Order: sequence, then structure tokens, then C-alpha cells
Amino acid sequence: MKEKINISMPSLKEAKLRRNLDVSIVRYKIEDKYKTLGLNKTYYIFTYGCQGNEADSEIMAGILEGVGYKKSTDPMNSDVVLLNTCAIRENAEQRIWGVLGQLKGRKREHPDMIVGICGCMPQEENATKKIIESYDVDIIFGTHNRHHLPELISKAYESKAKVVEVLSNEGLILEDAPKVRESKHKAWVNIMFGCDEFCTYCIVPYTRGRERSRQKDDIINEVKDLVKNGYKEITLLGQNVNAYGKDLGTDYTFGDLLYDLDKTGIERIRYTTSHPRDLDLKTMEAMRDCKSVMPHLHLPVQSGDNDILKIMNRKYTYEQYMSKINKLRELVPDISITTDIIVGFPNETEEQFQNTLKLVEEAKFEGAFTFIYSKREGTPAAKMPDSITEEEKHDRLNRLIEKTNEGYLRGHQRFVGKVVPILVDSESKNGEGMLCGYSPNLKLTHFKSNDKSLIGKIVNVKITEAKTWFMIGDLVED
Ligand code: 5AD
Ligand code: SF4
Repeated sequence: MKEKINISMPSLKEAKLRRNLDVSIVRYKIEDKYKTLGLNKTYYIFTYGCQGNEADSEIMAGILEGVGYKKSTDPMNSDVVLLNTCAIRENAEQRIWGVLGQLKGRKREHPDMIVGICGCMPQEENATKKIIESYDVDIIFGTHNRHHLPELISKAYESKAKVVEVLSNEGLILEDAPKVRESKHKAWVNIMFGCDEFCTYCIVPYTRGRERSRQKDDIINEVKDLVKNGYKEITLLGQNVNAYGKDLGTDYTFGDLLYDLDKTGIERIRYTTSHPRDLDLKTMEAMRDCKSVMPHLHLPVQSGDNDILKIMNRKYTYEQYMSKINKLRELVPDISITTDIIVGFPNETEEQFQNTLKLVEEAKFEGAFTFIYSKREGTPAAKMPDSITEEEKHDRLNRLIEKTNEGYLRGHQRFVGKVVPILVDSESKNGEGMLCGYSPNLKLTHFKSNDKSLIGKIVNVKITEAKTWFMIGDLVED
């Protein structure tokens, strides 16, 4: 096996301790010695998981292009291949082992290829051990070390050893990093990093570190820049955006940020993800008052049973959740609400599951990401005994999906006959001569048009048909 350079290894225990309470802002600058590192070389990044990882990949692409690498479309023929991984559920990890297996064969033919694994998986000690022992990977780095990428690659070239740098318990915020954004009209904007909630099933607080907010001026300047460059839509990112600012020691909150960003001239603002306990009145009022804040809220509920919510450490009840969304509907009557739900949490009874179904009915969700509980080593729930069979878990998931699908369809049906503004994303895969994009309520919409110059523009579409997963309409010419 290759020699290993251990700069630092992950520790879930260390990550939980929140020992490093200082948040340092690191302003990225390419060191002169790395400026030509990637000259005449190519890179490819596989991205798995949440929007946070997509945003991180855009930064890593920016850093790589900043040192000369060019983007490739073929991972198997690239000089640097990075896998930006997700650890949230076991099946997310299974996919990564599959790709690593394919790359192993390719690396045998091309020993100079650098394979790097980064993101959430390396933050788990068991995963990192398995990667080191079983796969031919050159660099392994976590969520806190992206800015060291040129240095890590350079070390791997020089030493031909495995370079491992995974920091636990970090509190840094990376500013001024170059980005290669995937879209020319929609942009991710991180407003905070990490999570301090410690929901008992979730690995994120361990892999992403403590909750830390960017300075508001850094965020506002980034958005002003995006407006200048013709961007139409931003999505503000954080594990719990409603906690924005809590760590900064001022009384400036997420609601204030929405009001300020509305003044930048950006046409559409979205945000994800929210925590029901922290969603406050000011945010709801901003949704009502700010024209640019879109009428859609993703508000993960996870379960409709108060006992399960308590064991999950979610810190709200069925009744409190409903009261928040009822208030929001009073202020923003047109809003679409979507959610995340976990079934089969350890020892969940049929009756408790029925409470989830009841909540789904009552909350009138227009969409949901539904998951079977996945045991994550190192989290409190992993130690809870579990008596539910796999068959029962799948059966609950299917019954839940049946219900949530009704919500998707209902959410689309209510727009039939109406004219809605669609931000056009791309050509549609739904048929020749069609384009597609999203409405303010985040409804995917397909319409007939051969005019590709509409991509990136907001056009009016009259909705003629509602399906479960999308709407169909006719372009309304000015
Ligand atoms: N098992 C299943 N689903 C999970 N999620 C987080 N952790 C787990 C887990 N261990 C889900 C939650 C969260 C979404 C991003 O992923 O519903 O909101
Ligand atoms: Fe995980 Fe809970 Fe934090 Fe969301 S709020 S990232 S579910 S710990």
C-alpha cells in the first residue's frame, strides 16, 4: 500500500465537543508557488448530497481553475478527480464506494491521476479508515480544508503518498474564494456554515462543525455583485438559516437580512433549510413584504408525533409546527410549503406513524423529501434499540409517499388557468422544442418554445395542465 502522510485525522468525538469557539475569517489568496500547478491539466468534480455541497464544489472548481486546471467532461480521463461526498444516509455513501471502485481500475492504467475524496464522508473516522485501507485515493480532506486544495495536490504530486487532512471542530469561514458557478442566472449564496442543533439522528453537526454566520456585509456585497453580473435568483444556504446571526452577538437576524437583500435588486430570493423552532415572525413578515422573497418555504418537520419529535431533539411539537405554518399562511396566503420526513426512527410505532400522516394531511404540504431512518455511527440515535422490520419501514415509506404525492399534484393543480412568471433554466427533457424553468412557488414548468435566448430570462406562461411532478403551459407573448 502507498505511504500515508497524515496531517490530521477526523474524530467525531472531538467534533461534538465544540472546543474551538473562535470563528476566524480566512480570506483566500492563491500562493504564488501554486499559480501554475494545473497548467495543461484537467479536473472533474463529482458532487453528491445537498446544495451546500454543490456550493462547495463551485468553490473547489474556482480554486482549481485559479491555479490553471481546465474543467473536463470525462472523469476517467482527467488529471484531478474529486469526489465531494455526502454522509447523511448510508445509501449516499454506498454510491461513493461504487465510483471509487471504478476509479481504482482507471488509476491502475493512469497512475499520475490524482483522486481526491472530500466533503462530509472524510469527517467520519470509520469512513476515512475504510478509504485509506481499501482504495487508491491520493488526497482525503474534509469540509474545513477546501482552501488548502492546491497545497494538498502539490504534496500528493511530490510525495506520491496518500495525503490526509481532515480537521474536526473547526470554526472558520472562507471568504473571497474564487467560484465557478454552474448557472449564469441562479446562484447559491452561503450565509452560514455548520449546525448546532444535534438532532439525534443526524451526522451533520459532526461533519460540518459549529454554527457560524458570515458577516452581513460580505453576503450583501456578494449578492450586489451577482446582480451586477446579471443573476436573477439567489438561494441562501445554511443548515438552519433561521439561526443566522445568533453567533455574531448582534440583534441582526435572518429576517433583517431578507429585508436588506431585497434592496439589492435581485429578482428572486429563496432560502434553505429552515428549522421550525427558529422560524420567527420577522422572517414571515419579510416573506410578506419583500417582493423578491419567493412564496415557497421548505420547513422540515421530520415527524408528526410529539414523543418521536422529543427523542429526535427537534425542540417543537406538532401543535407548535402547525401554529407556525398557519401564521405564515395568514401572512402569505399564496405560499407553498414543502418538508422533510423520516419514517422508521428507532421504535416508531404504527400509531406514531399515523400522527405523521395526520400532520401531512393537515399541513397541506405541496411536496416532501421522504426518508427511511438511516443509522449514523456516532449519533445518539445509533445507540437506540430498534424493533421495526425493514419491511415495515418500506411499507410506511410507501404509504407516506402516496400521501405526499397527492400534495405535489394539488400544488400544481391550483395554478391551472393562471399566468405565472417562469425563470427559464434550460431546454426541457420533456419533448423537442420545449423549455423549462421554475415558478415563484418553485413549481417546475414546461412550455413550448424554440427560442433558447429565453434561457436565463423570466417569461409569462399560462398553465394548461398539472401533473404530479410538473406543470405544462403556453408561453404568453408580450
Ligand atoms: N436518516 C434518514 N434521514 C435523515 N436526514 C438526516 N439524517 C438522517 C438519517 N440519519 C434527513 C432529514 C433532513 C434531511 C436533509 O435528511 O429529514 O432534514
Ligand atoms: Fe441535521 Fe437537525 Fe442540523 Fe438539520 S437541524 S442539519 S437535521 S442536526
